[in-house]
Amino acid sequence: MNDNLHQLRCIGCGAQINGAEAQPDFRCAVCGELFEVEFPGWSQRKGPDRPNPGALKWLWRERRCSSEALDQSGVWRYRELLPILDSFGNAVTLREGNTPLYHLPRAARALGVDQLFAKHQGMNPTGSFKDTGMTAAMSVARERGFEWVACASTGNTSASMAAYAARAGLRSLVLIPEGKIAWGKLSQAMDYGAVTCQLKTDFDGCLKLLTQIVKEAPIYLLNSVNPYRLEGQKTPAFEIAEAFDWNVPDHLIVPGGNLGNSSALGKGFRELRELGLTARMPRISVIQAAGANPLVRSLAENGGKSLEPVEAHTRATAIRIGNPASWRKAARAILETGGWCLDVTEAEIAIAKAEIGAEGLGCEPASAVTLAGLKKLRAKGAIASGETVVLVLTGHTLKDADYTIDFHRGTLLGAEEKAGVEAEMEPLRRNAVAMEATAEAVLAAMKGSAR
Ligand code: F0G
Repeated sequence: MNDNLHQLRCIGCGAQINGAEAQPDFRCAVCGELFEVEFPGWSQRKGPDRPNPGALKWLWRERRCSSEALDQSGVWRYRELLPILDSFGNAVTLREGNTPLYHLPRAARALGVDQLFAKHQGMNPTGSFKDTGMTAAMSVARERGFEWVACASTGNTSASMAAYAARAGLRSLVLIPEGKIAWGKLSQAMDYGAVTCQLKTDFDGCLKLLTQIVKEAPIYLLNSVNPYRLEGQKTPAFEIAEAFDWNVPDHLIVPGGNLGNSSALGKGFRELRELGLTARMPRISVIQAAGANPLVRSLAENGGKSLEPVEAHTRATAIRIGNPASWRKAARAILETGGWCLDVTEAEIAIAKAEIGAEGLGCEPASAVTLAGLKKLRAKGAIASGETVVLVLTGHTLKDADYTIDFHRGTLLGAEEKAGVEAEMEPLRRNAVAMEATAEAVLAAMKGSAR
């Protein structure tokens, strides 16, 4: 069976190539820009390969009852919109996707937006949104016969890649910035058997070095410059649209690091609209940490025409990225949907993370920028109270337990960072207290705790 109906198109000069012709670093040989997967059959209105919206919606729902591994994956359940493999039998899946869409009642009340939801991508097999992209790109790696795969990472990509490589029977190489990734993520890469190199540089330095290495050895690059990663990462857009009965929400708010995820979700919603599965796209807003905000600057300073890398600093280590690879694709998603690009401070991230925790969900620090960003968007009147908002929570709360514990102990932020927000932060703290093992002491602790 040949299911493969795609080609790659350069987002810079428009050059079209066969998927197998891509260079090891996935940059265009003509202009150096990145590629996007496209499906030529879809553009012919009555072309035989053009999907039929009604039939697809029915088929995708039916697959929820199937016991087939491919159908149980929230990525491959939509495989008609992922014709990237010679055979779907080559797919490597851990039953990723199908993540929950939770209502956020407390935050909704506090912000005056009734329809506020969190799409929790941290509920994926390795605890982050990366799994949806990894299943797609790892399957291509296996189909193309690679023995080694590799990524540079702030932690989640490496955890995900190591797991999927192990499932596929491939070897994996991880380059991470020394001392700047959360322990939970590092432990995963080790657990799943990756060769893990902690380098004395930052994420941007790791990716630069890896780009050089893949040109010298037959290693398949699995960072989000690989366009097949974004194919998998577009599928949460399908899940969100399906959850709203194919009426898309008004706003989607996404954290921004290397900017692959916002690009992928933009592509997913764009394809749904182009194929007639939905009538419109949500406004897509990207939120960065104030200390790692190159896209915010680019859009403010030159409308997203060029991007000046920054030296990145934030405790939300997942998005500690100063030179994001997919910034052009992300800027396109924001500009074409009328979304916004904002940054939030370390204190705003910490407060928002504690609030998401208090909803009984939790997430890692980088994910919490979405709620912090929503507060700013509400404050400037960009989002009306009757509109539907979906926050994309990208990682599980257990990924970075140190951050959470430091917050609740009051040791996370410096005095300057806390200035002016102590009163807002204090009631959110739930430090673990040591006490005598008596009923009186425990009951007194309960009485003394704020609601
Ligand atoms: N949230 C989390 C939890 C992440 O791990 C990342 C990126 C992002 C948001 C930003 O997504 O890069 O697509 O804009 N983590 C990468 C990694 C860079 O190596 O795990 P993005």
